[in-house]
Amino acid sequence: MRIDIFTIFPGMFDGPFGESIIRRAVERGLVTIQLHDIREHGTGRHRSVDDTPYGGGAGMVMAAPPIFASVEHVLGDHIRETEIILMSPSGERFTQAVAQQLSQLDRLALICGRYEGVDQRVRDHLVTRELSIGDYVLTGGELAAMVVVDATVRLVPGVIDSASLDEESHASGLLEYPHYTRPYEFRGWTVPEILLSGHHAEIAKWRHAQALALTRQRRPDMLPDEEPADNL
Ligand code: ADE
Repeated sequence: MRIDIFTIFPGMFDGPFGESIIRRAVERGLVTIQLHDIREHGTGRHRSVDDTPYGGGAGMVMAAPPIFASVEHVLGDHIRETEIILMSPSGERFTQAVAQQLSQLDRLALICGRYEGVDQRVRDHLVTRELSIGDYVLTGGELAAMVVVDATVRLVPGVIDSASLDEESHASGLLEYPHYTRPYEFRGWTVPEILLSGHHAEIAKWRHAQALALTRQRRPDMLPDEEPADNL
């Protein structure tokens, strides 16, 4: 998989992509991540990438020409076969299901918005999808793009042992059951006896019941057969 990220702050990505699982995935050639500075295609002596909004109002809007130029320069003929995603608080919600879809693609491009917004023509004529990572407003799309890359790359075949993916929160539609490791007793708190019993079927039943109870308590909206309490 190849991922191209378009941003005016490429340096923000050094930390998250330079460590741990994402770094290993890149080193092993499972994924290529390229960062592109939109400002290289900015206009004028100051390589400007933003301007005041038509119609008035506060703040600045990221202009269309530098974003189009940057994306077209980098993607070239691949532009039509690339999912081009704009990170924005008004996008469709990014979920585990979306991460699964993206992890199947050969090419992904992420555009990080800044300022008060992005010229509508970028949305209408360049991007194929708009994603939000949650109902809050970040100072820009960079952190959101890191979240999307992290959640997507770990699902690319070979990046993580697939057994650990099957049982985690959201994969099964439930939150994850509790985990314990040694020591058996810590500050007087012990491990549930069932986990020491060796009865695999009983352990699986217990884990499912725990996952269901936790999901019912914290995220009733994830249980399709049950009405959320405040809708009753
Ligand atoms: N840019 C600013 N806020 C965002 C959000 N919640 N998701 C994606 N991109 C954003």
